[in-house]
Amino acid sequence: MPTTTATPPAFRFQGWSLFSLIAVLVLLMTALTVMLNPDLTEGVRSAIRATARSSFVLFLLAFTASAFAVLVPSPLSKSLVRERRFIGLAFAFSHLVHAVLIYAYGQLNTEFWPGRTTLGNVPGSVGYVFVLLLALTSFKSTTRLIGAKAWKRLHTTGMWVLAAIFAYSNFKRIPMSDWYVLPLGLICAATAVRLVGKLAQANKRQPLPRTV
Ligand code: HEM
Repeated sequence: MPTTTATPPAFRFQGWSLFSLIAVLVLLMTALTVMLNPDLTEGVRSAIRATARSSFVLFLLAFTASAFAVLVPSPLSKSLVRERRFIGLAFAFSHLVHAVLIYAYGQLNTEFWPGRTTLGNVPGSVGYVFVLLLALTSFKSTTRLIGAKAWKRLHTTGMWVLAAIFAYSNFKRIPMSDWYVLPLGLICAATAVRLVGKLAQANKRQPLPRTV
């Protein structure tokens, strides 16, 4: 009798359980970051940075999943594609916590909002509009509602806009610390991986030229 060789899932947690696990980890990290800081205001500010970083890691996974599955097919890359929706929703959750912490920080430090310019708030606000739109359209019912074409256009645009905001947010912090070169380098590398993946996918779809 032939044996089945279905690829085993690379993740023990899948679907909503994967989402829940990541959400709990994000909340735990946030609570620890705030509690371990002797100053509440500074603790909340550190937690804002921490959630930006957890969002960044989740975003990179969702952003490059398809490309890795094409370029280096493996159980892990295939599982990443399968779980991309839940990783994306976990990214939105992490960014929701980022927003709640920003609100809390604004309450604790009354100089925060007056110290920011309207122009300075534009990239972050545009980012949040896209996070919301992508999250709301990541369910079967809403995907069906807007249609496959509009869904593809929205999600492709949204992911590129968010990639640009991550690149800009890290780039503008390089004068504060050289370490911000690292996430900037990561987003540039992820962009290259995604573009090469798309090219490889397009080449695969193209029929081979006929030989006489
Ligand atoms: C209006 C909306 C937003 C506001 C007011 C805001 C505010 C902040 C604040 C106060 C920090 C901490 C700054 C520090 O202590 O140095 C921060 C960090 C950061 N935020 Fe946001 N943010 C917003 C939206 C976003 C969005 C949409 C993204 C990405 C898509 C993002 C990515 C980042 C990154 C990458 C950091 C740096 C984290 C690090 O230090 O490694 N933010 N944000």
